[in-house]
Amino acid sequence: MHSLTIDQITKRYRTGTEALSGVSFAVEPGTLLAVVGHNGAGKSTLLNIVSGLIRPTSGTVTTDTGRGRLMWAPQRTMVDWSLTVSQNIELIARLTGAPASAVDRVLELLDLDKVRTQQAEYISGGQLQRVQIARALVADAAIYVLDEPTAGLDPAAGELVMEHLRERAASGATVLVSSHDLDAIERTASGLVLLDEGRLRAHLPIQEFVRRAGATMKVRVVFAEPMPEACPDRLAAALPPEWTLETDADRAGLSVQVPLATGLRPVLAWLPADLRVRDLSAEKQSLRDVYLARHAERSPAPESVMVQQ
Ligand SMILES: Nc1ncnc2c1ncn2[C@@H]1O[C@H](COP(=O)(O)OP(=O)(O)OP(=O)(O)O)[C@@H](O)[C@H]1O
Ligand SMILES: [Mg+2]
Repeated sequence: MHSLTIDQITKRYRTGTEALSGVSFAVEPGTLLAVVGHNGAGKSTLLNIVSGLIRPTSGTVTTDTGRGRLMWAPQRTMVDWSLTVSQNIELIARLTGAPASAVDRVLELLDLDKVRTQQAEYISGGQLQRVQIARALVADAAIYVLDEPTAGLDPAAGELVMEHLRERAASGATVLVSSHDLDAIERTASGLVLLDEGRLRAHLPIQEFVRRAGATMKVRVVFAEPMPEACPDRLAAALPPEWTLETDADRAGLSVQVPLATGLRPVLAWLPADLRVRDLSAEKQSLRDVYLARHAERSPAPESVMVQQ
């Protein structure tokens, strides 16, 4: 059962811009799905359609929230400027039937206690963003839709919000969140949807996306004694085709780059058994690394679109 199904959504604004073209994917309960893509890719358009703010030109969104509700935080600030911080949150709590204790909980979670009596107009941009997130999180929901919740937050607050969203997903909610913070996404999201000029380019679990995008791992090996003179040539001769090798000029160590999917074991097996290793470290490419590399090459994202199981 999916809690959210997006089927062949197309959105053409009155200006003629086609912001989304035939986008389809489904989200399962208990997952945090990140929507990524360049500025203008169509993320907000998609999230605004899912949350019911705007209608698609064609296609359907089916939300199965059971008895739960859908809570939404748009990218543009939507607060009541004349109310205080806590009144802004209380208003949503009343509308959704959330208890007063939930207001205190989100005020504390988002570190808004010290400005709770301030009018929304007179707080900082990051604090305002926290109020907006607090308004979405104050009620228990089956589906949370948050459009760039970490934009404008300091790094610690951004991390806290993403981690909290991960926990809500882990306890059964469906969380759809757009973000440019690829490191936070890699740490917290179950999967990602990549939009490119309004088209769905990938829908994959994060690690699968990273692997398919051609991520590599660089393994650095330092030997206890320099390698014998003939060793670098022997290693190069036995190098699998997709690997690249750099040997230190003084033969004290080497670096080998392998596809991420290869893993460490074949590298260890390839090293000569008679050489003692003093130090070994591996550096994996991150989601951010592969995303930026693909963007620079303007190469397509992983071709096949796989619906998460
Ligand atoms: N109300 C609107 N009327 C006309 N065109 C719009 C409207 N809103 C967005 N667009 C256009 O639709 C496209 C997608 O915009 P959207 O806001 O969905 O992008 P986004 O992926 O959220 O970008 P960002 O990362 O900057 O938030 C863009 O070309 C944008 O200019
Ligand atoms: Mg947007």
